[in-house]
Amino acid sequence: MSRKTIIAANWKMNMTPSETAVFLEPFLQSFPEATAADIVIAPPFVSLAKAAEGLGAHPAVALAAQNMSHEASGAFTGETSAAMLGDVGCAYVILGHSERRSLYGEGDSVINQKVHAALAAGLKPILCIGESLEERDGGQLEFVLSQQLEGSLAGIAAAAMADIVIAYEPVWAIGTGRTASPEQAQETQAYVRSVLANLFGGKVAGATRIQYGGSVKPGNAAELISQPDIDGFLVGGASLDPTSFAEIIRASL
Ligand code: PGA
Repeated sequence: MSRKTIIAANWKMNMTPSETAVFLEPFLQSFPEATAADIVIAPPFVSLAKAAEGLGAHPAVALAAQNMSHEASGAFTGETSAAMLGDVGCAYVILGHSERRSLYGEGDSVINQKVHAALAAGLKPILCIGESLEERDGGQLEFVLSQQLEGSLAGIAAAAMADIVIAYEPVWAIGTGRTASPEQAQETQAYVRSVLANLFGGKVAGATRIQYGGSVKPGNAAELISQPDIDGFLVGGASLDPTSFAEIIRASL
């Protein structure tokens, strides 16, 4: 089953609107046309409009938000709805990132509500899962990942999985410079696919795109992407520089 590669830039709390415009100019010159991969950029909320303006109707590069509310509208000070993200030009939204889980107390139940709200508004969730080092060392890897997948995807119809991307990001590899080895990432992502097969059937699992994230760089992208169950990347630090993000994409084509 062939799955289209998807490479996403998670800028986290970096890149003002002006810096976003400065990034996009050289970056879009590197990718003026459709490529063999879907490319996604996730700026902070305040930079989304600027990014949308720079992208226009770009054939290869789509826009994502890094989070959203599960509520549709109303008295939720400081929150952003799925409809707002769609209106500003987002096609995707990152949900359940480990920083949201660990620093802002998001659990699988609220992440699940966000997945439902995103799909209802026509946004494609990039759903993040991943284990801590203690969990991996303590033999909890499979338990943790299967709980995260079952909880975050509760009530999701098999047909909706075509619009969901899974990002496997071992917490111990995020921003640490310590990447999972290609074998470790492959073994874990094959396990993730087996959980999806139990939940939604083998055909759906075989078609679902699973990204790897955690210290992906130009120098390790090619070896990671050659693994059969790695269908792309969610890139943090190395996506802040247009040249290094472009190199990661090129290494993955
Ligand atoms: P990193 O972040 O590439 O800086 O490790 C990845 C992520 O958190 O999505």
